[in-house]
Parts: sequence; structure tokens; C-alpha cells
Amino acid sequence: DDSSCDARIIAAKAILGKRLAILGHHYQRDEVFKHADYSGDSLKLSQQAANSDAEFIVFCGVHFMAEVADILTFGERKVILPDLAAGCSMADMANLVKVRKCWEEISQVIDPDQTVTPVTYINSAADLKAFCGNHGGIVCTSSNAKAVLQWSFARREKVLFFPDQHLGRNTGYRMGIPLDQMVTWDFMKPRGGLTEDQIRNAKIILWKGFCSVHQMFQPAHIDNFRKANPKGKVISHPENAMEVCEKSDFVGSTEYILRTVRASQPGDHWLVGTELNLVNRLADEMKPKGVQVQFMSPTVCMCSTMFRTDPQHLAWVLDNLVAGQIVNQIRVPQNIADPARKALDLMLEVVD
Ligand code: 13P
Ligand code: SF4
Repeated sequence: DDSSCDARIIAAKAILGKRLAILGHHYQRDEVFKHADYSGDSLKLSQQAANSDAEFIVFCGVHFMAEVADILTFGERKVILPDLAAGCSMADMANLVKVRKCWEEISQVIDPDQTVTPVTYINSAADLKAFCGNHGGIVCTSSNAKAVLQWSFARREKVLFFPDQHLGRNTGYRMGIPLDQMVTWDFMKPRGGLTEDQIRNAKIILWKGFCSVHQMFQPAHIDNFRKANPKGKVISHPENAMEVCEKSDFVGSTEYILRTVRASQPGDHWLVGTELNLVNRLADEMKPKGVQVQFMSPTVCMCSTMFRTDPQHLAWVLDNLVAGQIVNQIRVPQNIADPARKALDLMLEVVD
């Protein structure tokens, strides 16, 4: 049960000491999150991984995050994902075969290596980051997408943004790019379902991926909240649709959402459009401060893959480390890790 897992986790942490760092994303469930040595959004966690000198990094998050940790530590740390089935459905919406086909099809209209910067959201497989590294491109997260797009447009006139159409569209829109210059590449259709003119005129070509959790939030949820709470404030993650983001008062990464709500005054009332575990924890934290925090959807929506990491899996990987065995290590082959690191390092430089 959970209490025996807790005891095993605490004991293992005491034995392993500084040899171990447990990283926890904000969407992790409470029973796991409370054991994390470091927490953060995707950007902060990748920086923590890069700067860690622990021998073992146990990543309570999803697969692409563990890959990034392995890439940024040159395979010199042992990065462990407690449940190997913890993927990301959005990341799975793009793959190397489809992105190469897209690049190929674009090249029948314009020369992408001269005119298009490929930008991958960090929520993507390592080989897509490598694709970006090999084609003059870069990685972004929800907290640096604008700076990364500015960097990209300073080099080439267009961006191919994958896999999340919403982060790309929301960021482009807030940078003043007209909606008709942001076209959606439907990877199920030949040439993305676009005409040659649409490709020629586009500033951003948006891959048609989305997050299954954030797509649950609707503009009507915000309208209803505002009717009932005229002084209430709305904050959303940029993985939400543009209709949701444009009705929100604030838009930003999970770390930004926490920072902003934590800075509020007693009496404030928030509607928050991001994953339920984060919102519930924030609501509990702010309640004694007289701040009300409400989840955007009337239905429960959690990230089912973040939820896969449970105390049982965490205790199991830690027990193994204590016994001198490494299970569930994530290793990215060097021929992929090297170009992927190039695209990640560019991102980390842009942020600095
Ligand atoms: P951030 O924590 O970087 O805002 O990302 C949210 C997310 O969906 C992680 O998969
Ligand atoms: Fe992927 Fe969405 Fe889950 Fe984040 S919340 S890990 S984007 S499915």
C-alpha cells in the first residue's frame, strides 16, 4: 500500500543521499510529487537535470522529459523513468517519418533549408529534436516559445512548428502574426492539405497536434465563470485553444501559473485552465491565504500518462538502485543525442 511505499522511498532516499535526485513535474499526483527533490515546468526541470551532479536522476514526469535529461547530461547520469509507459499523447502525434515527409513536400514548393526554421516543442521524441538540430532548428518550451520564435524569424522567414498547433498559434498571434499566415499542416493529408500559395504565404506552418487534456477546456467555461464572478481572474496554459487563451487574463507555463497565482491577494478568485493535479494542489495551498482557486472544467481531466507514475513504481526503481540495479533507464543513442543536444543548447542560450 501507499504507506509502505512511502517508507521504502524515504529509506532509499536516505541511503542514496546526494547520489540521487528525484525530479517531479507539476502534473504529478500528490503521493509522488511530495517525494521530489526538485519540481518545475519542462524548462526548469531540463535545466535542473543539466546542472545536476547526482549519479541517478529519477524523473517523475513523461518519457520525453527523461530523454532530455539524458541528452543534456551526455549520458553521464543514469536517468530513470519509473513507468516506461508514461508517454505523452501529444508528442506521439508527430514522428520522424511524418515530419520528413512534410519537409519533403514543402521542398516541392519552397526550399525549406533556406526559408524554414523547424521548431519542436520539447514535448516530442528525441529524434525530432535531432531533426531540428540537423536542419538549423531549435527546441522550445511553453515558457520560452516567444523568444524562440523571435530567434527563428531573425534567421529564416518561416517556421515549421510541431507537434502542438495551439502553442504555436497562441505564441504567433501574440507576436502579431495574422491568422491567415498561420496555416495548419494536416499530417493525414497529402501536402498537409495546403495549397502551394498557402505554403508560400505562411509565416508559421502549424503541425496539427494537440494536448488531449487541455482540449477539454472550452471558452464557455470562462464565460460562465465570469458571469458568476465578475471580479474573478482567468489563467491558462498555452496548450489551450486560442479561443480559451484569448478569453484568459494570463497565459503561461505551469511554473508561470503557480508564480502568478501565488502572488495574488486575499479575496482573489482564480479559474485555472491546466491539469487537475496542479490545480488541486494550488487550491489547497492558497485556501488558508483566502485565495480561491477553481479548475476550469466541470469534468475531471487529468493527464493519464503523468498519472502512471505512482508510489509503487517509484519505490520499485529506488529499491533496485539501493540493491545496485538500474531498471527503466532511458538512453538516447549518440547519433540522435548529439544533434538533439544542439537544438536544446540553442534553446537554453536563447533563454539566458
Ligand atoms: P510546462 O510544465 O512546461 O508548462 O508543460 C506542460 C506540459 O504539458 C508538460 O507536458
Ligand atoms: Fe502530454 Fe498533455 Fe500530458 Fe502534457 S498534459 S504530458 S502535453 S498529454
